[in-house]
Amino acid sequence: MARFTLPRDLFHGKGALENLKNLQGKKAVIVVGGSAMKRNGFLQRAEDYLKEAGMEVKVIEGVEPDPSVTTVMNGAALMAEFEPDWIVAMGGGSPIDAAKAMWIKYEYPETTFEQMCVVFGLPKLRTKAKFVAIPSTSGTATEVTAFSVITDYDKGIKYPLADFEITPDVAIVDPDLAETMPQKLVAHTGMDAITHAVEAYVSTANCDFTDPLAIFAITMIQRDLVGSYNGDISKRASMHNAQCLAGMAFSNALLGIVHSMAHKTGAAFDDYGAHIIHGAANAMYLPKVIAFNAKNEVAKARYGVIADYMGLGGANDDEKVANLIAYLRQMNSDLNIPQCIKHYGADSYPCEQGFVPEEVFLARLPEIAKNAVADACTGSNPRQPSVEEMEKLLKCCYYDLEVDF
Ligand SMILES: NC(=O)c1ccc[n+]([C@@H]2O[C@H](COP(=O)([O-])OP(=O)(O)OC[C@H]3O[C@@H](n4cnc5c(N)ncnc54)[C@H](O)[C@@H]3O)[C@@H](O)[C@H]2O)c1
Ligand SMILES: [Zn+2]
Repeated sequence: MARFTLPRDLFHGKGALENLKNLQGKKAVIVVGGSAMKRNGFLQRAEDYLKEAGMEVKVIEGVEPDPSVTTVMNGAALMAEFEPDWIVAMGGGSPIDAAKAMWIKYEYPETTFEQMCVVFGLPKLRTKAKFVAIPSTSGTATEVTAFSVITDYDKGIKYPLADFEITPDVAIVDPDLAETMPQKLVAHTGMDAITHAVEAYVSTANCDFTDPLAIFAITMIQRDLVGSYNGDISKRASMHNAQCLAGMAFSNALLGIVHSMAHKTGAAFDDYGAHIIHGAANAMYLPKVIAFNAKNEVAKARYGVIADYMGLGGANDDEKVANLIAYLRQMNSDLNIPQCIKHYGADSYPCEQGFVPEEVFLARLPEIAKNAVADACTGSNPRQPSVEEMEKLLKCCYYDLEVDF
């Protein structure tokens, strides 16, 4: 028996933001990130639409990329004061994820962060507010997912919160908001999206309802991501939908160890000058994980199906897997994303020696490998890695070595 859950309503297409006018309620809080939404006028428009709907509006601004537990707790305190009946989260994955966690704390003020992290362990939400999510990046699909990723900076670890209770009530997928994304953001979020779709397709929790969403998203991203990166606005609009389809798939089929590894490496080297940006981490690790997972016959056959839908050729599944890996590596090159951590520069572009020194990586590797195996996304991966195998896999991701185990 399984469950398939999506938002009740999904408004999409140019101008869809306007649907905020039709919400019914008394008070809405808008949660946004840095300045992108304000600068481009979307924050003002959202406020105006909500006021037109007769609501009092308060804005929580400044959610940082990869939001912290502290940001969540502070936002929840503001919500407790204002008592909104709608939470409208707008921006990239970061402010929307932060708003989801604030929502939990607002509904249940006694809840600790540790309790939020219990997978599929949340109490019933919507006793105080409903949730609208409006993405401005084309990757995380958090507007339709049961996930929120919050970083504990004391531990240097990203924690995925997972429960269908935090699947938003309304998603507004308006391509206008994604138009202003800088090139690098297009690349990273786009590779995040294809990773979602590929991991969902081979996940042990895949099903007839998630497979078509995953496959169609993959073919759309294959067709449109590089063009969007190179400035084609119609392809950028298509990517906004494609990432959302990928999200519908993975929210219900779950993910795999590419995400486990991205979650546990992302903030692990902050003291050396930069985050490994989520989408870039996925882009580097995905080809390695495909090689690892393909030792499992069921997963290999599924990668073969993906390669077929992508029209990559290959006489048998081994050849198809090899073609898929080669294709994804070429996408990384086309998007100026390095193939491994060693060559990941502080600006995220490829360089000879990246910002994570070899000796630091090796010293932290055992702990990172242990944490990655314990990540919530590992359970649905088609092949269960031991901590030793995870260490080897992460080494391949550092040095760009072939995965032959
Ligand atoms: N909840 C989920 O299901 C899920 C899935 C994957 C990843 N994540 C998490 O989401 C976070 C990453 O989110 P993201 O990749 O969307 O980036 P982000 O929200 O961290 O934003 C990155 C930067 O882009 C800017 N920005 C956002 N939209 C813009 C626009 N339209 N124009 C110009 N600038 C814009 C932001 O201000 C910010 O500086 C990570 O914490 C990741 O772990 C969540
Ligand atoms: Zn992701």
